[in-house]
Amino acid sequence: MSIINHIEKYRKLKRTLFTTPSHSQGDFVAPETLKLLGQKFFTCDYSEIEGFDNLSSPIGIIKDAQSAAAEIYGAKSTFFLTNGSTSGIIAAMYALLTKGDKVVIARNCHKSVYNGLVLTGAVPIWLIPDYNSDWGIFESVNTDYLEEILEKNRDVKAFIMTNPTYEGAMSDIYRISSVCRKYNVKLIVDEAHGALWNFNKSLGTPSLIQGADIVVQSLHKTAGALNPSALLHISKESDINPSTIQNSLNLFTTTSPSYPILLNIESTINFLSSARGQAYLHQLSKNINRLLRTLKNIPNLQVYSYNNDITKILIKATNISGFELSEILFGEYGIEDELSNEKSVLLLTGVGTSKAKLKKLEKALVNLCLDNIKIANDSDKKSIDYYPIEPRVRYIPSVLWGKHSKEVDLKYALSRVCMEVIADYPPGAPLLLPGEVIKKEHILYLLNRKKTSIRVLL
Ligand SMILES: Cc1ncc(COP(=O)(O)O)c(C=O)c1O
Repeated sequence: MSIINHIEKYRKLKRTLFTTPSHSQGDFVAPETLKLLGQKFFTCDYSEIEGFDNLSSPIGIIKDAQSAAAEIYGAKSTFFLTNGSTSGIIAAMYALLTKGDKVVIARNCHKSVYNGLVLTGAVPIWLIPDYNSDWGIFESVNTDYLEEILEKNRDVKAFIMTNPTYEGAMSDIYRISSVCRKYNVKLIVDEAHGALWNFNKSLGTPSLIQGADIVVQSLHKTAGALNPSALLHISKESDINPSTIQNSLNLFTTTSPSYPILLNIESTINFLSSARGQAYLHQLSKNINRLLRTLKNIPNLQVYSYNNDITKILIKATNISGFELSEILFGEYGIEDELSNEKSVLLLTGVGTSKAKLKKLEKALVNLCLDNIKIANDSDKKSIDYYPIEPRVRYIPSVLWGKHSKEVDLKYALSRVCMEVIADYPPGAPLLLPGEVIKKEHILYLLNRKKTSIRVLL
């Protein structure tokens, strides 16, 4: 029986509990909390009472839920974590490493890996992933570089890396895992930011099916679960004993795990793996791709698109730093990013990112880039001078006849269908005709000619 079904059934029994937690399933909730959250959340919060289970040595509903999840993920074992990926990373390190053991660590790792080093006493050998100075971010792990390190250090026990990076850059885990196997090195992948990959392969390929031994994923980052829910998976191909991991987790995690988080982990996985969930993610990736196509057409704006997970939108603007772009987005548009650096700004999306939210970002960036930023890059400068712009015809004139139009600010005309003839003398040849798509080159040219609005198809 699922955790949710069990709780629903249990509530009907109307048992009288003299146990923790002392809010007695919502009989007491601090007044201000009650006002904000209501009582419902508390009614699902239990401890290890009769009929419930124990996360540190599961034999009942938690064991069933974890086994079902392992089946869905194709893992040997899956552990539910109510203390975030942080706890999974530390526990994996503690299970595999001891004082003095050598461990190769990709330099862009999360601070939990540093904490794991403190606790284990293992000796790090740092591997610097490729660095992209144009964007100010780390990218993939170079497999040859890893092999060089392992060749020189035959006694390395494990390699720990992040995939995808915070900014979505991906590494070739197939190749990395085969190098690790060659040198008998365990591969731990921090996939905190890739929790949707198992349910939508267009976003990325899960490290678990690419040969990693242990994969840790945060379900709260992209997959829509409560903070700080996460998973630790052991691969079917790995010889790591699940009980070693369980014992290690028990050293670092609470003895009072949150049932609201556990039931939310279970139901999030069930939803994402269902046909409805997959359709939902398909729609999400369509919406993000649509936005990215538009953003790529905005003058003075660049979008990071190499080998990356599209749920992480990394942008930069001509002439202003990432920090300044971040400040304008926040101060003028109320849009808060995940992080920014000198070069770029990172906007995280996930299962809960609505079309409306993406639209708001699009509008803000169109507005901001055309209004606040000087036209400075070479290709944009070039488009200020008239030159033949390849027309993109969406509708031929006869189809457009009688269709309605409206005047919009030029800032909002990008990618819309023009509904007027725009030509000037000289040269007289039309810049745009009705039925043609308005491109960023058109907007730059027209803004420079002090035109501020344009008629577009309704
Ligand atoms: C790459 C990476 N790994 C691990 C973590 C820790 O995840 P959690 O918040 O689930 O403990 C984070 C959190 O920001 C992260 O960015």
